[in-house]
Amino acid sequence: MESIKNIKEYLGKEVELGGWVYNFRSSGKIMFLQLRDGSGFIQCVVEKESLSEEKWNDLQKINIEASIKIKGIVKEDTRSDIGFEISVIAVEILNYSNEDYPISKKDHGVDFLMDNRHLWLRSRRQWAIQKIRNTIINATYTYFQKEGFTKIDSPILTGNACEGTTELFELDYFDRPAYLSQSGQLYLEAAIFSVGKCFDFGPVFRAEKSKTRRHLTEFWMMDAEMAFHDYIDNMKVQEGLISYIVEEVLKNNRKELELLERNIEALEKVKAPFIVKTHAEVVKELREMGSDIKEDDDMGADDETILTKKYDKPIFVTKYPKEVKAFYMKPDPEDPKRVLCSDLLAPEGYGEIIGGSQREEDYNKLLERIKEVKLDPKTFSWYLDLRKYGSVPHSGFGYGLERIVTWICGLEHVRESIPFARTIQRLEP
Ligand code: 4AD
Ligand code: MG
Repeated sequence: MESIKNIKEYLGKEVELGGWVYNFRSSGKIMFLQLRDGSGFIQCVVEKESLSEEKWNDLQKINIEASIKIKGIVKEDTRSDIGFEISVIAVEILNYSNEDYPISKKDHGVDFLMDNRHLWLRSRRQWAIQKIRNTIINATYTYFQKEGFTKIDSPILTGNACEGTTELFELDYFDRPAYLSQSGQLYLEAAIFSVGKCFDFGPVFRAEKSKTRRHLTEFWMMDAEMAFHDYIDNMKVQEGLISYIVEEVLKNNRKELELLERNIEALEKVKAPFIVKTHAEVVKELREMGSDIKEDDDMGADDETILTKKYDKPIFVTKYPKEVKAFYMKPDPEDPKRVLCSDLLAPEGYGEIIGGSQREEDYNKLLERIKEVKLDPKTFSWYLDLRKYGSVPHSGFGYGLERIVTWICGLEHVRESIPFARTIQRLEP
């Protein structure tokens, strides 16, 4: 069986395709079937004469989403997106599909679509988003392999928190508490002592009470960690990774971006060097734009939106106040109230896609900080060990896959970027 994506290789030849009918019309003598096979979309033209009476009558009974196999000749069709159509010579109907397919061309509310996510995924836009997500995942793996990183799989069941205790999912682990991982970072910090540079990629969990367009309770994170890298080297790796991802999407997913009506020129501007600003500079800039953010405040979602609407490249915001960031970050030697961190914010109002920092590598300072933020040093004893045996300066970062997909696809809300979104209100389908 051939696939629609490669159809141009078969011009004038006979092909066999299997797929689903996403639209059709019939004039009594000729029928136009819009077929999708997972790799693309194509029009198939069936003339009554070319089928037996019985087959033709069977075909008149199909509905949207019927599954069929066809045989036909590939012809040029300059009016269609793809440039080709199929002149059908044989049809096999596999499954008729009920009449009441819930998703039609008319506008549905988002809740309705999310309730029918298992079917909504078949729609063109949703198809395009998943294709782009796939490119982003692949580009991430390729980039790290090219740069000499080793993939290390961090555990999902953990005995301690990585990013603060308020958003932990706790479960009963044979009569003692366990937590679903919020980030694999701490484990990657252990692994750099073995492999130098590494990354993980997997689902992470946060009991986020926030109902925003940026938050999920389960999402995919890629963490990277590098020995002998300071917070500036760390930003270089991120800049390289994000530029490469955008380049790959532009190369492999033009059609999908067009289908999503994404502004492609905006993506073409995403090239190194990115903008770098300190938190202090950004606070000043935001206040001039009317925000009431204070010197020691974290950036709120609205602040990120207004700041990133001003620029057409990603922005690193460095050196946040230590109180608003995680315990493991290394203080800035020039200003110990701040840490050597960077958040990478995507342009066009999208905001944070990556969080990263240089890590505290000194045993005593780290222990003191763990106590200060009221974490239990006992559960972090393995993590503290890393500072006892050949500790080195090191840095790392973590990206949220769905935030990146949302930005690159130009979506309104993160829920469309993941096949089956999990939010406070949603566990099904
Ligand atoms: O900024 P965060 O919390 O950083 C960490 O977890 C670090 N341990 C990563 C590291 O240094 N290895 O999360 C990283 C990224 C954010 O920048 C954001 O893109 C995404 O994860 N993220 C979320 N995405 C969707 N829903 C949520 N609730 C998210 N929380 C964070
Ligand atoms: Mg963050």
